[in-house]
Amino acid sequence: MGVTRKLRWGILGVAKINERIIPAFTEARYAELIAIASRTSEKAQRAASRWHIPRAYGSYEALLADREIEAVYIPLPNSLHAPWTIRAAQAGKHVLCEKPLASHAEEARSMVAVCRQCGVALMDGFFWPHHPRTARIREEIARGLIGEVRHVQGSFSFLLELDPSNIRLQPELAGGCVMDVGCYPVYGALWVFGELPHRVFARAQYEFGVDLTMTGILEFGEGKTATFDCSFVWPFRQALEIVGTRGRIRIPDMWLPPDPAVFFVETEDGYKAEIAVSGVNQIAAMLDNFSQAVLHQRPPEPSAENAVQVMQVLDALRESARIGQPITVR
Ligand SMILES: NC(=O)c1ccc[n+]([C@@H]2O[C@H](COP(=O)([O-])OP(=O)(O)OC[C@H]3O[C@@H](n4cnc5c(N)ncnc54)[C@H](OP(=O)(O)O)[C@@H]3O)[C@@H](O)[C@H]2O)c1
Repeated sequence: MGVTRKLRWGILGVAKINERIIPAFTEARYAELIAIASRTSEKAQRAASRWHIPRAYGSYEALLADREIEAVYIPLPNSLHAPWTIRAAQAGKHVLCEKPLASHAEEARSMVAVCRQCGVALMDGFFWPHHPRTARIREEIARGLIGEVRHVQGSFSFLLELDPSNIRLQPELAGGCVMDVGCYPVYGALWVFGELPHRVFARAQYEFGVDLTMTGILEFGEGKTATFDCSFVWPFRQALEIVGTRGRIRIPDMWLPPDPAVFFVETEDGYKAEIAVSGVNQIAAMLDNFSQAVLHQRPPEPSAENAVQVMQVLDALRESARIGQPITVR
């Protein structure tokens, strides 16, 4: 018999991204938001009354002490992902932590180890893997019309207001554009090839002590490559292109798709298809996938180990850009 109840959630922090997450809870079928916490009671109360959330806590610790909360969503600055994931796990909560999972891979590994010891689930908060269009793209690759995949090209950039108080511009909070948006095309390349690159090389421009722009190349086995770019000072772009020996798949809005979410398959012999997937809120899909995994006592997908691999590549890219040399990943 299927589980019909909803998993009970709390949120640690009144973050900007909550503007998109909280409405998605009302669309989710297996998740119920019952509490929000902030470092100040007033901020928590204001958010709770605005969004009709039953419980407000004036500290993250107080929310973690609420025994009725089963899972937490952590939308804190990147450097706080690990400490609060670990505290949440030790309080027995399942954790959906915003992307990227941690400040670096070593920290991410310790999060995975603690969650495992505590018997709780852990997943990072990338939305796009949960959109059913992503599975459709995989099917199109597997159909083989585009031939063997040889190259992936991805981008994610937007014009950020360069206010130094933004968490993205603070090195001590693990800011920077590759951590904020470059992680999407990097993850996208790993997702397409299903493996870690052997070697990476990146170049970056820095200000405020963080990368404002980064461009990089990832070398996979058998001559397969990926290139990516990301920026806080370039206009909004969010595309992925998958290049095969006989054709290509173009996804103009891979990470934050409109409805319907569309992609294009084009081959050398003139075949052209536009494929649309409609009626999906990918954030609600993510909340439901995670909640269902917990309710059915199975590990959530994508796995936390997958998130560690993404961090491993982000570490190598940041190191490569810093020293101006390629870095071997494996
Ligand atoms: N998946 C996505 O599409 C997506 C999109 C945007 C952002 N994100 C991720 O979500 C996370 C939060 O991003 P955001 O733009 O929503 O952040 P934000 O609003 O600037 O900050 C997040 C919240 O963290 C809390 N916080 C705790 N300690 C803090 C400190 N030392 N400095 C600043 N804030 C602190 C604050 O909440 P209280 O004051 O209430 O405690 C703050 O409102 C990041 O990891 C980011 O990468 C993901």
